[in-house]
Amino acid sequence: MKSEYQELLEATLDHLEELKREGNRYVALDPARLADLSGQKLVAPTAKAARVPVAAISRPSIAISATVAPTPVTAPTLVYTSAELSADAKKEAMGRLRLKAESCVLCPHLAASRTKVVFGVGDCLSPLLFVGEAPGAEEDKAGEPFVGQAGELLTKIILAMGFTRGSVYIANVLKCRPDTPGQQSGNRKPTTTEMDTCLPYLQEQIDIIRPRALVALGGTALEGLFGKTAAGITKLRGTWKEYRGIPVMPTYHPSYLLRNQLISVKREVWEDMLKVLERLGSPISEKQRGYFKGGG
Ligand code: URA
Repeated sequence: MKSEYQELLEATLDHLEELKREGNRYVALDPARLADLSGQKLVAPTAKAARVPVAAISRPSIAISATVAPTPVTAPTLVYTSAELSADAKKEAMGRLRLKAESCVLCPHLAASRTKVVFGVGDCLSPLLFVGEAPGAEEDKAGEPFVGQAGELLTKIILAMGFTRGSVYIANVLKCRPDTPGQQSGNRKPTTTEMDTCLPYLQEQIDIIRPRALVALGGTALEGLFGKTAAGITKLRGTWKEYRGIPVMPTYHPSYLLRNQLISVKREVWEDMLKVLERLGSPISEKQRGYFKGGG
């Protein structure tokens, strides 16, 4: 016999399927109700009714069985602590987390506007993790972080360090592109609420990878990890911090380097990367030590 809850759930799903068949793409949902449905605490108490894509509410994401209660859509729960996971367990955990992020609707406005969730890319066994702020338009289309101009520069930095894009892990604080309603182009900085809402995904990525060093790219990534601090990236870059037991090297965002072509600024970033290589115990050649030396 079905429980009252199951009957209600199935009736709700039937209704949503019906709406989808009729061509409806969104349902208006009060954020408090959405938070109740997804088992989350309310993250944006003042937000107006949200438009949730009907496609995001699909049957397969909710398991109904006679004996097992349905699993609500929730932010990740942290199950990986200090214990190191095996390579297979890391890959499996990362795959499961990716699936969870790809169906996330915790920020309904971003779930409605995104093309793809930009979860992260690279080797989850890597000793090195790069963290940026949020996907831009190109990343949103590709579903991969750092594929635009800033990404090309980041790739060059990674290669100069002796790694490849595939041998490190790259992720952002925010997994969805911050929407820009009414704008044809351009990107915007994620809000504090958006970053706080999405952060558990990055935290779980960090806990799965347990890298030996994390590079925080730019002031916004730093803010996403540590909250607003009195000192900004100019002051903090080049100085080690710690996050979830992982050494963190804050440095300038590659977009800043693209806007500011001074060789002295490139050298500052490179010195930060040399510190990372030293921390990892990676061999550093004389040629590498000398990159961007000579002022400017
Ligand atoms: N900037 C970021 O911070 N992340 C990206 O993925 C692309 C640009």
